Amino acid sequence: MRSNVILIGYMGCGKSTVGKELSQKLKMIFLDTDTWIEEREGCSVSQIFAGKGEPYFRDLETHCLKELLKEKKNQEEVCKKEDTENSTYVLSVGGGLPVREENRILLQKLGTVIYLKAEPDTIYERLKGDTTRPLLRTENPLQKIREMMTSREEKYQDAANEIILVDGKSVEEIVVEVKKVLFC
Ligand code: S3P
Repeated sequence: MRSNVILIGYMGCGKSTVGKELSQKLKMIFLDTDTWIEEREGCSVSQIFAGKGEPYFRDLETHCLKELLKEKKNQEEVCKKEDTENSTYVLSVGGGLPVREENRILLQKLGTVIYLKAEPDTIYERLKGDTTRPLLRTENPLQKIREMMTSREEKYQDAANEIILVDGKSVEEIVVEVKKVLFC
């Protein structure tokens, strides 16, 4: 049975860009937890943070994973009965999602988890001027990035089956590395 591929990592590490490219190469569907939440709520992540607060958003992240797991189990049942191949996806998850232990357990049940690891300076350069990440709207975003990455590192490592270093690499190079990890 084929496995889903789940990309985790800090904001701006390339989860969505790499995920989309990888899903095309592997002929898999691409999913994104932020998009799932935005579609469900009918507004942007920034609007959810501003209107309902971060804890509400974090509960939606867990809810999203539980729904995906329910679907996975249903699909596996159907595939077993009909002796067919299950359809799989590449899932990019929000940078803060693996922080909750419950989410890390759910991620492991959903598929192979790959941590795209970047240096704080790389993230800062990529996200300079970005207005879509509410947690980075601070006086000193580089310091905030450093602090958050330090406090999350252990959790990312705990959640991941594999770690890929992404600094200085093109999307294509990272996709090749992810494929190696998946098919080695
Ligand atoms: C967040 C990362 C964002 C989004 C939200 C919070 C975080 O997703 O979920 O702004 O806590 O790191 P990306 O990692 O896709 O930017």
